[in-house]
Amino acid sequence: MTNRLKKTVVLVGMMGAGKSAVGRALADRLHVPFMDSDEEIERAAAMSIPEIFERDGEAFFRARESEVIARLVQTNGAILSTGGGAFLQERNREVITTSGVSLWLDAELQTLWNRVRHKTTRPLLRTKNPRKTLEDIYNARVPVYAKADLRVPSEPRQSIDRMVDKVIETL
Ligand code: S3P
Repeated sequence: MTNRLKKTVVLVGMMGAGKSAVGRALADRLHVPFMDSDEEIERAAAMSIPEIFERDGEAFFRARESEVIARLVQTNGAILSTGGGAFLQERNREVITTSGVSLWLDAELQTLWNRVRHKTTRPLLRTKNPRKTLEDIYNARVPVYAKADLRVPSEPRQSIDRMVDKVIETL
């Protein structure tokens, strides 16, 4: 591992890519602090993400997300998991790549779908055809995630431990 961990490693990628689970396990393994932007937003608002979307709208959520990321990325030597839309905003990408190291957890569409299909925690997937919505979001976002400093592909049914190994090999 190089000295990349002197900065904060910021996990980006689609819903269901495993950013929170891998991030938490990675931080445990490396004995560094773990932070999750979605959790921080929920804690500060004392509401769940679906509730925030419903009550205040997506634009409000995105503004809170930018503030939280700009603040948390300043913590050196930690792991920060972000929500799937965070890397889409240019100002977030700028702040993440200036102060941290961005790492894209890249999982295939089918894997993502298998992981999110039975969950109700993603307001963006509350559509008539969530499978198609996920696919559209995936296609639109992949070129943006590809701007991350580092990329770790995940195989279907890969364990969290194995993903953590691969992330550590990449860092
Ligand atoms: C979002 C992903 C979610 C959460 C919000 C919006 C997105 O986080 O931030 O529902 O735009 O992809 P996860 O990627 O952890 O599901």
